[in-house]
Amino acid sequence: MTSLHVSAPAFEHHRDTFGIGEPRPRLSWTVTTDIPDWIQQAYEIELGDGLSTGRVESNESALVPWPGAPLGSRERRAARVRVHGADGSASDWSEWSYGETGLLDPADWHATAAAPPLELLGAPDGPALLLRRGFTLRAPIERARLYITAHGIYEAEINGRVVGDDVLAPGWTSYHHRLRYRTHDVTGLLREGANAIGATLADGWYRGRVGFGGGKSGIYGERTALIAQLEIAYIDGTTDMIVTDDEWRCASGPVTEAGLYDGEKHDARLHPAGWSEAGFDDSSWLPADALTHDPALLVAPTGPPVRRVQTLPPTEVLTGPNGETLVDFGQNLVGRLRIRVQGPAGHTVTLRHAEVLENGALAVRPLRAAAAEDRYTLRGDAEPETFEPRFTTHGFRYAQIDGWPGAFDPADVVAVVCHTDMRPVGAFECSDPLLNRLHTNVVWSMRGNYVDLPTDCPQRDERLGWTGDIQVFAPAAAFLYDCAGPLSSWLADLAAEQAEVGTVPHYVPWVPLVFGVSATAAWGDAAVLVPWTLYERTGDLGLLRRQYPSMTAWVDQVATLTRDHLWDEGFQFGDWLDPAAPSDNPGKARTDRALVATAYHAWSARVVADTAALLGHDADAARYAELAGHVRTAFRREFVTPSGRLACDTQTAYALALTVDLFDGPEQRERAGRRLVELVAADDHRIGTGFVGTPLICDALCSVGAYGTAYQLLTQRNRPSWLYPVTMGATTIWERWDSMLPDGSVNPGEMTSFNHYALGAVADWMHRTVAGLAPAEPGYRRISVRPRPGGGLTHARAAHHTPYGEAEVNWRRDGERLTVAVRVPLNTTAIVDLPGEPAVEAGPGQHVFHCTLPDPL
Ligand code: BGC
Repeated sequence: MTSLHVSAPAFEHHRDTFGIGEPRPRLSWTVTTDIPDWIQQAYEIELGDGLSTGRVESNESALVPWPGAPLGSRERRAARVRVHGADGSASDWSEWSYGETGLLDPADWHATAAAPPLELLGAPDGPALLLRRGFTLRAPIERARLYITAHGIYEAEINGRVVGDDVLAPGWTSYHHRLRYRTHDVTGLLREGANAIGATLADGWYRGRVGFGGGKSGIYGERTALIAQLEIAYIDGTTDMIVTDDEWRCASGPVTEAGLYDGEKHDARLHPAGWSEAGFDDSSWLPADALTHDPALLVAPTGPPVRRVQTLPPTEVLTGPNGETLVDFGQNLVGRLRIRVQGPAGHTVTLRHAEVLENGALAVRPLRAAAAEDRYTLRGDAEPETFEPRFTTHGFRYAQIDGWPGAFDPADVVAVVCHTDMRPVGAFECSDPLLNRLHTNVVWSMRGNYVDLPTDCPQRDERLGWTGDIQVFAPAAAFLYDCAGPLSSWLADLAAEQAEVGTVPHYVPWVPLVFGVSATAAWGDAAVLVPWTLYERTGDLGLLRRQYPSMTAWVDQVATLTRDHLWDEGFQFGDWLDPAAPSDNPGKARTDRALVATAYHAWSARVVADTAALLGHDADAARYAELAGHVRTAFRREFVTPSGRLACDTQTAYALALTVDLFDGPEQRERAGRRLVELVAADDHRIGTGFVGTPLICDALCSVGAYGTAYQLLTQRNRPSWLYPVTMGATTIWERWDSMLPDGSVNPGEMTSFNHYALGAVADWMHRTVAGLAPAEPGYRRISVRPRPGGGLTHARAAHHTPYGEAEVNWRRDGERLTVAVRVPLNTTAIVDLPGEPAVEAGPGQHVFHCTLPDPL
């Protein structure tokens, strides 16, 4: 008996299909079968409204166009699919999957912004306020939806129960351009008769303090507000709507201070029992002000929200130098503590957080002006009380717990890991435990730096959507997590900010802090390279189409900043955090900034030319290809000697010029490659690159055949190197190669985060070259299997859930004999290119290949 099974179709890049914003959601499915060499010949899609495509001759199965009429607001549609093989086989119908649109038209919004009255508002990051109203439902309910967002961050409750499981909702977007709302199915929380709805509203990014150098507050407005629309459909066919307006009433509650950086202060004695339940007497509460807001700014999410994703128990309890209780969670993470505590009313427990210890105590200097301190004041119940802050997160491995009443029991504390609830899709392991830890550290840094947006770091007074950081990390990110949905939201913000301020800001959302906007290479190039990476990894041409104006605007703007196509003026971050830069001047890199900027200009111009060609903009394609050519010529004229040396003799310069292919022909490349190998050897095979060179250097070395040197860099343990932090006990990627010095002290510089993913971009090379799994065509429609074993490894494996199903490369080495097990998803082919062997094609299914490794690799 053969089996042929097709998954229920997925809608766009969604994990949560309540309240999607696409009227024509594209559908994707994967097929599993034991029929050898099965290939999809045709598909049929059926929608719940009776529409059927009939048999469509096509082997497409990822992001297939919506076959039905465009959906209107609040439309719920089921979809299922059936596939036919080229061999005449046919699957059964898949399970149904469901998608439901949110409010697609601004005119659907009837809610005003209910703002707590001025007399309740404290200073920014002050109290979180309560809003509520009671209401009566006159009949049995068929279904109910809550469409909700806020100016601020909120947690909603209905009849005493928290709605959904979002954390820090609605997350941070460029609020004055795009404010995400969420749709919740609240049918089960309501009942006929008396009901109540409420929300706790904190300042968050909207009104709270954001940014370094003192930061700013009130960035988006001086008043927080809740925007909620509860729509009820009764069984009898009638409807009702409860919206935020001036009938809502407000009061302060138990959260006396809530700041994203400083933490939360919660006095449980101030909790008005039953405040979000029916029958609560709110006559002493003050009416909300009904403010206007622009419903055209409200957008549905394209990815999952932040959630509590995992809890970790303490691994050890330590005593600090002053007798303080320190809890070690064994992992640097992002989230907060949940405690269970019992004690007298009015007693306060204080929770402080840090990523590392210095001299046995919390090292808080790297947090700069983020207090990262939560406080809980007990109600004094007869039962233990549970506290977890709701309007803050911290980056920490260690917590100091002060004021615990009675004997401290570590079983009463867990760390709650919070981040965007993306689906993990990639795995890597190999025979070297240190490299495995390095890879695990990359995964944890991705998790910690995806609290609703891709950030630089999660712990200090920063946590901004730095463009350069995600530009270099996007390939690794896209392998590890399904981040197309979340990143496409961030890219929409990037485009909106870019259109407003006239360039790609240094971080998105943009907040003017100590410096203004200016175009900077490698950072601004995120506008081009992040969408391109997502296209390569998911095949989503629609995303490229949407970002195209932003991509071209960036390259066009840079073209105006160049002289003879050289970008040699204006502020640049350059090869930020070059290990040779002094601690107090992280921008003082060895690599010429003009070289970095001009190389990136050539790179982005070429990618925009390729994008234009894909989208059918032929004139643009020719124009940008020509521009890329001019920039290459200018680069060579300025920086390359005829024999292939660079005017700037650094690892980053060669890595960049080789990656962007800026040399003139194979001789120059070969000479440049040799020089790069010499430079790395002269540094005793220690890394000499910052943010710009680090993601590229191993690929650059391999592109000139220097695999051995790439492995020597990767497996180096002396500082600076990728493994030095691992030998120092790191559990995340550090901002600096030596955020911690060998004597255990924290680097004296300012930039000493212990959780920055940028230098972890090397993980992508590990996936593609150490294990040997990469897309050969967009979306892994063709897969490249090209392991290049080295570094003394005897085994490596990478697996990735591609849009077509699970792909895997798993090799073992016994002496010179290499055995490679490959899994190729259905509807794809693999090009298997083993060392010293001609490349061969492999169809779907499991394969095992053998070869003898040529010497030396
Ligand atoms: C951030 C970086 C960022 C950089 C710009 C820092 O403060 O943490 O990761 O890219 O500034 O150079």
